[in-house]
Amino acid sequence: MATEQEMTPSQPPLLYRDLADWYPLLTPVGDYAEEAAFYRRLFDAHCQRPARTLLDLGSGGGHNAAHLKTALACTLVDIAPDMLAMSRRLNPECEHIQGDMRSIRLGRVFDCVLIHDAVSYMTSRTDLAGAIVTAFAHTAPGGVAMFQPDFVSETFEPGTETGGSEAGGRALRYLEWRWIPDSADTTYLTDMAYLLRNPDGTVEVFHDRHVMGLFPRALWLELIAEAGFLPLAVPFEHSSCSSAGQEVFLGLRPVAGGKDMT
Ligand SMILES: C[S@@+](CC[C@H](N)C(=O)[O-])C[C@H]1O[C@@H](n2cnc3c(N)ncnc32)[C@H](O)[C@@H]1O
Repeated sequence: MATEQEMTPSQPPLLYRDLADWYPLLTPVGDYAEEAAFYRRLFDAHCQRPARTLLDLGSGGGHNAAHLKTALACTLVDIAPDMLAMSRRLNPECEHIQGDMRSIRLGRVFDCVLIHDAVSYMTSRTDLAGAIVTAFAHTAPGGVAMFQPDFVSETFEPGTETGGSEAGGRALRYLEWRWIPDSADTTYLTDMAYLLRNPDGTVEVFHDRHVMGLFPRALWLELIAEAGFLPLAVPFEHSSCSSAGQEVFLGLRPVAGGKDMT
């Protein structure tokens, strides 16, 4: 039987620290082109001011930014120094800042704010509300914030996926296993197994547990409205079949008036 400590790791996932260097083989930057183009269309459609600047909270390897930076001046924030280092190599022209999306305050606003899959690391209502309020604090009047959780309660499905890629003489294959423990309230677990093949042919194996948040759709919309945004849910348009039924949440910051929680 798993102990409490094993169920809830005290450290961030290995993928974002010791194994950060392998991240581009897990989820190659080219795979993000289609979704980045979709986000850009949404920003253009909903931003009531010229969309020129973007704040990406939980920017990871900077794989979305690598595509969005052609149209938007990107500022990238992540809590993990090793991920920022990866992203700096890929996006040297972008500003990088270490910080926590639940609390960071940069003292300036952006036309567009993106919290992509990193928002799935918000595992309590308080953390999720904190991240959404951070997005509001950095969205200019007339600007737009976008949130893309991997799942909401209504769409979660336990299951497994496999994948990986190779480059520069190294190769990675993974097994992703999503499940909800009996004791879970607002979380699910993603247990990852990585097989890492080095240039000399040796292979290492790692287990990495990711604790992810799971909240009802209605709560997302409620928290986005509570922060001061006009909330909106739009279907995620992507050619992969796993995206069927998935939605993206938007927060539109009114041009004038509304709450000031900055
Ligand atoms: C899957 S990666 C994001 C990948 C990103 N969408 C991209 O385009 O490359 C998730 C990231 O969330 C970051 N993260 C987790 N909790 C965070 C927090 N509280 N504040 C900021 N970043 C966080 C992790 O360090 C990790 O880099």
